[in-house]
Amino acid sequence: MLIPVLTAYEKEHISERQTLPERYLGLSDEEMARRIAAAKATLGRRLVILGHHYQRDEVFAFADYTGDSFKLARQVGRHPEAEFIVFCGVHFMAESADVLSAPDQQVILPDLAAGCSMADMAEPEQLEMCWAELEQMGVIGGASRVIPVTYINSAAAIKAFCGEHGGVVCTSSNAVATLRWAWERGERILFLPDQHLGRNTAFKVGVPLDEMVVWDPNEIWGGLEPDTVKRARIILWKGHCSVHARFTVRQIENIRQQHPGVRVIVHPEVPWDVVQAADDSGSTEYIIKQVTESPAGSIWAIGTEIHLVNRLARQLEPDRTVFSLDQFGCLCSTMFRVSPNHLLWVLEGLVAGDVHNRIVVPDDRKRWTKVALDRMLSIQ
Ligand code: 13P
Ligand code: SF4
Repeated sequence: MLIPVLTAYEKEHISERQTLPERYLGLSDEEMARRIAAAKATLGRRLVILGHHYQRDEVFAFADYTGDSFKLARQVGRHPEAEFIVFCGVHFMAESADVLSAPDQQVILPDLAAGCSMADMAEPEQLEMCWAELEQMGVIGGASRVIPVTYINSAAAIKAFCGEHGGVVCTSSNAVATLRWAWERGERILFLPDQHLGRNTAFKVGVPLDEMVVWDPNEIWGGLEPDTVKRARIILWKGHCSVHARFTVRQIENIRQQHPGVRVIVHPEVPWDVVQAADDSGSTEYIIKQVTESPAGSIWAIGTEIHLVNRLARQLEPDRTVFSLDQFGCLCSTMFRVSPNHLLWVLEGLVAGDVHNRIVVPDDRKRWTKVALDRMLSIQ
């Protein structure tokens, strides 16, 4: 018998998970599209749907606003009239929306199993331990300040810790400005949970690789000597995105041979050597802008999630050629959890007065999470 291994995210949320009723299975695409549109029309201005670029087309088509994490987080505060914010994305995005929304607004994630494996790589207890160990090592204390910076791809409790300790949340679109902001306030940064975004961004602003260390939360003192940590300007948490870790330099070399003149653009969650071999890197919104504004005839290989790549390819063909850097395409399976069936179920629930899959950040975490997110929104 196979015993399923639950992620930290699932352990916390499995009890509140409501499964899709059987009557929402086996519906035709046409019927779902018609009923989603009807429910949206009935709810009118009481509802706003936010959709991340990695969502599947059948869901993305119904988003009132689309964007990267930063752009969507900013949309939350712009719709005070909406009673319900349905977030077609993953859990950390919906949590952030709950913290940034007004108390009378409700945030809904169509499938509660839409988590993020990278966000699960930093547990609040591990961060508390890391902080205590940095104090023991003499890295924190006296005149020595460490500013904690967490990527938005993290749990609310991690964001709250950063807010309470003088730190901030960043996204891939404001990471450069955020690191500068943090270095103005302390000599060292603790960056979590994505070591790649941290390394790529720090390198971009001129920090050499030998002034960065990787903190392994499963090792005592992160697996590092105090002197090594004291020489570092940035301490990178040992986390990564398993979707973006699939992109390699070898793929770029092959693509350049097969398509002379190709431009390669990647998300900064890919490993450092891949960013170095690419022509450009940036958030999902940045990638879309660069490719869309490129001259007719351009050829692009994109290193990010396959739904964004395929959608862009369809929108821009035949003027531009767009394909994935990975010949098999990289799918974010948790973003994919949000199906039109789930969207239909939560919307028809709202029409009937039933709220399914509401995301609520506990009040005791909200205050500092909001501080960290508000700082994020002020940095561009
Ligand atoms: P963006 O903020 O660039 O859209 O990235 C979100 C994400 O999860 C990428 O994996
Ligand atoms: Fe998380 Fe990676 Fe999916 Fe983004 S692509 S939501 S970082 S698992």
